[in-house]
Amino acid sequence: MSAIYNLCALNDIPDQKARGFTLETEGNKLEFFIVRKGDQVYGYINRCPHTGVNLDWQPDQFLDLTGYQIQCSTHGALFRIRDGLCVYGPCQGQHLTSVNLLLENNRVQLITG
Ligand code: FES
Repeated sequence: MSAIYNLCALNDIPDQKARGFTLETEGNKLEFFIVRKGDQVYGYINRCPHTGVNLDWQPDQFLDLTGYQIQCSTHGALFRIRDGLCVYGPCQGQHLTSVNLLLENNRVQLITG
């Protein structure tokens, strides 16, 4: 069954930055993060396809120094923000797992199910 979760306002995520979220529902824990680029948001499960560890090295730190790519803190794999494709590193060619987001009235929402 699908559900919609209200996460935050768009402006709660600074432009060109990311923010991590943990959603606990009916015994399930979903860890994911959202990257904002202007009026666009991109969301992925916080799990590196290489070993399955979390990507961030500090809370909300998911991007490389340039801010143009997602970076895994463990072995440095780099992922495109727009589709989660790994373009460099041990999991090159694999993708992050995306989550379904809805942006409505400047509210960022997650759709599950
Ligand atoms: S665990 Fe992410 S690159 Fe190795």
